[in-house]
Amino acid sequence: MNPTESLFSPITLGNLELPNRIAMAPMTRGFSPNNVPSDLTVEYYRRRAAGGVGLIITEGTCVGHKAASGYPNIPMIAGDEALAGWKKVVDAVHAEGGKIAPQLWHVGGIRRPGIKPGGDLPGYSPSGMAVPGKITGHAMTKEDIDDVIGAFVQAAVDAKSIGFDAIEIHGAHGYLIDQFFWEGTNQRDDEYGGDLAQRSRFAIELISEIRTAVGPDFPIILRWSQWKQQDYTARLATTPEALEAFLTPLSDAGVDIFHCSARRFWEPEFEGSDINLAGWVKKLTGKPTITVGSVGLNADFLPEDGSADFRAAEPASLDNLIKRLDNNEFDLVAVGRALIANPEWANKIRDDQADSLTAYSKKFLGELV
Ligand SMILES: Cc1cc2nc3c(=O)[nH]c(=O)nc-3n(C[C@H](O)[C@H](O)[C@H](O)COP(=O)(O)O)c2cc1C
Repeated sequence: MNPTESLFSPITLGNLELPNRIAMAPMTRGFSPNNVPSDLTVEYYRRRAAGGVGLIITEGTCVGHKAASGYPNIPMIAGDEALAGWKKVVDAVHAEGGKIAPQLWHVGGIRRPGIKPGGDLPGYSPSGMAVPGKITGHAMTKEDIDDVIGAFVQAAVDAKSIGFDAIEIHGAHGYLIDQFFWEGTNQRDDEYGGDLAQRSRFAIELISEIRTAVGPDFPIILRWSQWKQQDYTARLATTPEALEAFLTPLSDAGVDIFHCSARRFWEPEFEGSDINLAGWVKKLTGKPTITVGSVGLNADFLPEDGSADFRAAEPASLDNLIKRLDNNEFDLVAVGRALIANPEWANKIRDDQADSLTAYSKKFLGELV
């Protein structure tokens, strides 16, 4: 028996039928001129679907709020042209037998004036901060909150109508939704600030409204992380009890699958147990989870000095991952950089050709497909 066989067992999560346990992690790429996914984007995702990925989660794609974007040439998921571009991506992935979810994104306070679209608008965030204590942008009003929620809802409805199989909400890594979760960037004194339960209100409203708009059967994935790009040591929940209290209302609001972003999947989340973040979330919420972080690689994706160097990494054993999957610790495994360097990563693992995998280095980030 191939020791990686369990990665290739099919799974049905709600009405998302997947041929295997491998998801492509969402990875930004600034290759969408005029914020429209191009034919190269179509080919990039088609190759990964043909290479055996069960569920593709796209790069972060910005919802149609005026200040959602924070980097050049990031695709939007709003407007006829961008939606037509995404529809081509969806159709190409489906033609290869794959499934695909867009990652819906608003960068919040990370935005700086000058990024298109949005012109001179500053970052919009809970308290005008992307980094604790530094006011660099606009503190969102209740009207802004309603506008952003409306933009996420519209993106979810549009994603469903052009054939995406699910959506992923980007609630991780210190972007807008996480800026609400995180005490460091949420100093509000209205109903959207306060303790973690109150700071979760924005996400809960956003998820509930999406759920109402897309109906009960359309899968909603929430990606969240303890760590922030602003502080790798930050944690929203430091005990299982706190984690359960944080996630239960999000789960009840309509999340079907939790995508638990960590930098190293093998790290235990709490003392006294070997279980990782995705393992705890599955155990505490009863919902399926996705693990991620250096799968198949020997180094994690952010250096400790914060230089965002997405450093190089060599292929590494999957034994620990498979052992955890066999123990039912999580349901899906997201693969990031290894899939940038190896579009056929999944098929190669399945066919016992791990020896032919290419090491990851950031030069691959410049490749168009
Ligand atoms: C180039 C690059 C771009 C990324 N962009 C995103 C993104 O748009 N959204 C997101 O949630 N995570 C993003 N991430 C994080 C990845 O989804 C993933 O969690 C991380 O790379 C760890 O997985 P890996 O070790 O398998 O690469 C990005 C990572 C890389 C390397």
